Parts: sequence; C-alpha cells; structure tokens
Amino acid sequence: MDMIGLYPTWFEPGVGSGWIVGLIATIHVLFSHTSVGAAIFFAFLANYAHRNQRPDLLEFIRHYGLFLLVFSYVLGSITGPGIWYSTTVASPRGISALIHSFVWMWATEWVFFVIEVVGVYMLVYLANKLDRQTYLKLSLIFGLTSYTTMLVIVGILSFMMWPGKADWYEHGGVLSAFYGPNTFAQLGMRTAFMFTMTAVVGGIVAARFKDAAFKKDVAGKLAWLGIVSAAAGAAMFQWYLSTLPETAALVLENRLPGWFKPAVLGILAGMAGYFVMTLVRPSTLVVSGASAMTVAVLVFGLWPEEVTRESIRKPWVAGQYVYSNQVIGRDVPGMGITSEIPTIEAHGFMKTQVFMPEGLRTITDANRLEAGRVLALTTCSNCHSLSSGGMRPLKNYFTANSTTAEVAEYLQAGLSSGNTLYMPQIPLKDDEALALATYIGSLTGVPAAATALALPSVSTPMSKESAQ
Ligand code: HEC
Repeated sequence: MDMIGLYPTWFEPGVGSGWIVGLIATIHVLFSHTSVGAAIFFAFLANYAHRNQRPDLLEFIRHYGLFLLVFSYVLGSITGPGIWYSTTVASPRGISALIHSFVWMWATEWVFFVIEVVGVYMLVYLANKLDRQTYLKLSLIFGLTSYTTMLVIVGILSFMMWPGKADWYEHGGVLSAFYGPNTFAQLGMRTAFMFTMTAVVGGIVAARFKDAAFKKDVAGKLAWLGIVSAAAGAAMFQWYLSTLPETAALVLENRLPGWFKPAVLGILAGMAGYFVMTLVRPSTLVVSGASAMTVAVLVFGLWPEEVTRESIRKPWVAGQYVYSNQVIGRDVPGMGITSEIPTIEAHGFMKTQVFMPEGLRTITDANRLEAGRVLALTTCSNCHSLSSGGMRPLKNYFTANSTTAEVAEYLQAGLSSGNTLYMPQIPLKDDEALALATYIGSLTGVPAAATALALPSVSTPMSKESAQ
C-alpha cells in the first residue's frame, strides 16, 4: 500500500505552533524591514551629505547604524534562524517545498545577507575614515544588497500564497514560481512599509540629539519619509489586495472582521499624524514616544498583517499544493508531485500515515478515543487549538448536545469533499470520523466512554475494507 510520509506533528498545547511561528516572524519582520529601509535611506543620506557639504548627517548614519547593529542585526540574526527552526518543525513539508523550488534563491539570499552584515559594520566604523567616493559606493552597495535580500524573500513569500504563473504547475521553472502579480504588489507594499518603520525607529536615535537645529533637520527628514511612505503603503495595500488569489480574497471577505481594512488604513493615518506632529514640533520627538510608536507598529501593524497573510493563505501553506496539515493536496506535474488525497481516500489516514503508532492502525472500541486524538493532532491541530484557548479551538464548534454520530456525519460531510474553502480536503473513513467525533466529544464534555458504548461499532467492517 502507498504510504504518505507525513512527519510527526509539533504540537504546542494552548497556543498552537502557528502562533509561535507568527510571534518569531513578526518580530523578525520589524528588524529586517527596518534595516533594509535604513540601508536605502543611508545611501540617500550619504549622497545628500556629500552634495550639500553636510558631514554632520554622516553622524546620524553612524548613530543609527550602530543602533541597528544591536537592534536589527543581532536580534534579527537570532529570530531569522528562529523562523527556520520553528517553521521546519511546524511545517516540514512546506519548508521542503520552498527549498526544492528555490534552493539557489536561498543561496543568493544568504550571500547578500553576508555582504549586508559586513556592510553595516563598514558603514558605521569607517564613516569619516574613508574618502568620499569610496564611502558613497559602500553605502550604495549596502543599500542595494539589503534590498536584494528583500526581493528574494518577497518572491518566496508570494509563492507561498500562490505560484507566480499558473504554468508553473505544468512545467515548473523557478522564475515562473517566483514572479507574478502578487510578487510585485507585495514588494511594493513591503518597500513602502519598511520606510515607515525606518522613520519610526530612526526617531529613537534622532530624539537623543542635543543640538536643536540638527535634531529638527533629522526629525524633518524622518517625518517626510514616514508620511510619504505611509501614504504610498496605503495605496500599495489596495493593489496587493487586488492580486490575491480568488480563494484568499473570499477568505478575507468571509473570515476576517469587516473592520480589518478600515483598521489598517486607520493605523496608517495615525502614523501619518504622528509624523506630522514631529515635523511641526520636533521637540515632541522623544525616546519614549518613538519607542512606544515602534511597539505600536509591531502590535497593531505587523502582527495583524502577518497573521492575516497566514490565514488568507489557508488551507494551503505553500504554492496552493501543500495543505497546512502537510498533506499534498494537488498534482504538480512540473515538479513530479502527485496528490496524496486519492491514497487517503482509498485507505484512510490510520493505515497510510508513516508515523502512526502500530496499535492505532486498526480502530477498536478500546483505542477509539486515542485514535481520534491522534487524528486531530495530525490533521486539525495545525489550524485548530485542541484546548479552550488559542487559535480557533475545535471544541467551540460543537455543543455537548450533539451526539457523536451527528458530529461524525458532519465532519465527513464537511471535510471529505474538500468543498470547504478554508479547510483542507480531509477524507475520513467512517471509523476515523467516528474516532475523531469521539475525541471532540471528550473535549466538549460528553464522557468518552459513554459515547463510545452508545455507538454502533463500525470499526470491524471498515478496517477490513481499508486493509485491502
Ligand atoms: C488549514 C487549516 C485548517 C485545518 C487543517 C482544519 N481547519 Fe477547520 N477551520 C479552519 C478555518 C480557517 C475555519 C473557519 C472558522 C474560523 O475562522 O473560526 C475552520 C472551521 C471549522 C469548523 C466550523 C465549521 C465551519 O465549516 O466553519 C469545524 C467544525 C472545523 N473547522 C473542524 C475541523 C476539523 C475536525 C479538522 C481536522 C480534521 C479541521 N477543521 C482542520 C481551518 C482549518
């Protein structure tokens, strides 16, 4: 019999693995976007400083660069591998898909990242020590390499939403996977927002300058950067929404609260207001205020944005062929990949999942509850919390009044067909549906033993059939 090689599930009771990945990733986005934005801003400032005989601006680059060394580069270098570790265990096949499709893109990313890290040290420690032309070239190289790391990662993130060109499914090809309308819109949106973050975080550095005239000058530049980028970001956000795949747009409409879009635009307006304030009255730019704004960007801007991007991609985790629960849900001839759904439909999860404990392969009265728990862990826990808190708790959808048989029927109807837009197709054999329903019953408070006894035992005929 064909087996499906799902890896063991990483289960975080309470919060769920998704939120842990989200937490690390959100913090990482703050660090990485701020530093990429700053790199380009530095290239501009260095140029401006030399043209207008303003060596004092190089001081700002030096201060901000040093701050970023600690804020972005150290913490970014910790959270970056953190994303790799957490996503690899949370979604081994999603990561595998990204590596198989983009191995040279990742290599490029890391080469450029090394240049970027060396570059920021040079920019900070060689300011005032290098001649003008060399320093300008250095700042330009630093800006461009930083931005290249952004371009590469955005192409890969867009592929996670959906491959750039539909032709990729048939013929493969890294460029078809990488470039699509969503890639450019997302690049535009992230570019705008990274400048907004650079302007916000730069305020923490500028607020400490004692010389009032110099502070006013720098605060003004940061404020304009912030205002223009927030406005551009709002426009890019609309463009980005228009490039989403149809399913994502529907999920966005149906599953996200109606206030989501106005909230994003409201936050951007708030940011713009803050920048106008620091522009008009530079004395309002203080370390605590700028730090609070940085935290606000993280909590009210990046967290909802990253969580939304993750949820509208559902039920897929990568390329619209790897489901969030790791099952391959469609054929990709271009990559020699075939859907696992027919195998599961034919034999069920318990028989085909490689890491299934042998004692659970055949469901009996004695192991039904445990089989249900393992099924929930493997096929649902990636998106549903199995306890009361956390992400979409599974028990919340059912009342203690529904019988196990009703729940089983409901699950089969909803999940086996694959008609639920936001959930993977999860074909459940009758005995598997019953086991899952028994487990869900145990979560909602129906005593498991009672339900198991009250139900007709379908396990024997079913398991015979699936063993064939
Ligand atoms: C890819 C992620 C994903 C997986 C895997 C998943 N679900 Fe869901 N499920 C969702 C989303 C998204 C919703 C929408 C409801 C919400 O946002 O609260 C949902 C809703 C539901 C609902 C509410 C009814 C409905 O149709 O809206 C039930 C019941 C449910 N899921 C059961 C399950 C079970 C049982 C499993 C495992 C066999 C499972 N889900 C696996 C994402 C998932």
